[in-house]
Amino acid sequence: MGATASVSLAAAVADAGGLGMLGTAAMPHGLVVSALDALAARTAGVFGVNFLVPFLDREVMIQAAQRAKVVEFFYGSPDAELVEIAHAGGALVSWQVGSVAEAVAAADSGCDLVIAQGIEAGGHIRGEVSLLPLLTGVLDAVRVPVLAAGGIGGPRSVSAVLAAGAAGARVGTRFLAAEEADVHPVYRAALLAAGAEDTELTTAFSTWWDAPHRVLRGCIAAASADEDEFVGETDWGNHRVPIPRFCVLHPLTATTGRVEAMAHYAGQSVGEVRKVQPAAEIMAELVRDLGC
Ligand SMILES: Cc1cc2nc3c(=O)[nH]c(=O)nc-3n(C[C@H](O)[C@H](O)[C@H](O)COP(=O)(O)O)c2cc1C
Repeated sequence: MGATASVSLAAAVADAGGLGMLGTAAMPHGLVVSALDALAARTAGVFGVNFLVPFLDREVMIQAAQRAKVVEFFYGSPDAELVEIAHAGGALVSWQVGSVAEAVAAADSGCDLVIAQGIEAGGHIRGEVSLLPLLTGVLDAVRVPVLAAGGIGGPRSVSAVLAAGAAGARVGTRFLAAEEADVHPVYRAALLAAGAEDTELTTAFSTWWDAPHRVLRGCIAAASADEDEFVGETDWGNHRVPIPRFCVLHPLTATTGRVEAMAHYAGQSVGEVRKVQPAAEIMAELVRDLGC
């Protein structure tokens, strides 16, 4: 979940028994290692770290693999060398995939697990197929554990993907309403007001990274109506990052400017985002029907 998957959110999910993921997507490279050290100090639970391949810094990943239980890659062809480097640091390696062929390539590259992402998902979308047909194909094709992602926002869909054979569920959008997530209040309010039909798969927010993504439809209209080159900036302490109009960056708590015109990533699971609540409460609800 990019930078919304903050140290606080990953720690809260790990504390609640989930695999808490730190998103490094928009994070300046120099902050990743200290964030992982802070995460280790905050939780005794299990956490991982996610890298977008187009923005990967190998040195940072090597250090991350010595700190996180799982190193995950997304949006690049599975690469046995990267997997080997992460393994050498002591981490398990996961690859989020959008097709059966990519899942096979990830398993052949030595990954310990794969995440099958359907096009219902929020954020950047790798493939062209909905979750259930993708999951079915991936489960038939690989022997490593397969997690399901995309449109899963509550206990019914968690149970459904487990019944279909997934080893677990990856949940993104629902956690944007966790108290611990780093989400700007304007973005959060838009999520709370939206239903499953209010998202759009688009290439609108492609400055700095040209890849399809699912957002709330309203932010496309707001950005189209804006005329300035920049719509705001995010303050990362020593780093101030300007946000051009139609930029890939999404609004965090420390973002200022015309937030309504920035990328509001959301999956079709957004209909299950109904209130702001602690991550532990969301976790308890997600596993409600599993008897654990
Ligand atoms: C705000 C947001 C940011 C995301 N950023 C990333 C990312 O940096 N890396 C990644 O692997 N996936 C990212 N994703 C996609 C998730 O890993 C996952 O596929 C998706 O959230 C699942 O669908 P859901 O949002 O309906 O739960 C992001 C999703 C959202 C909603």
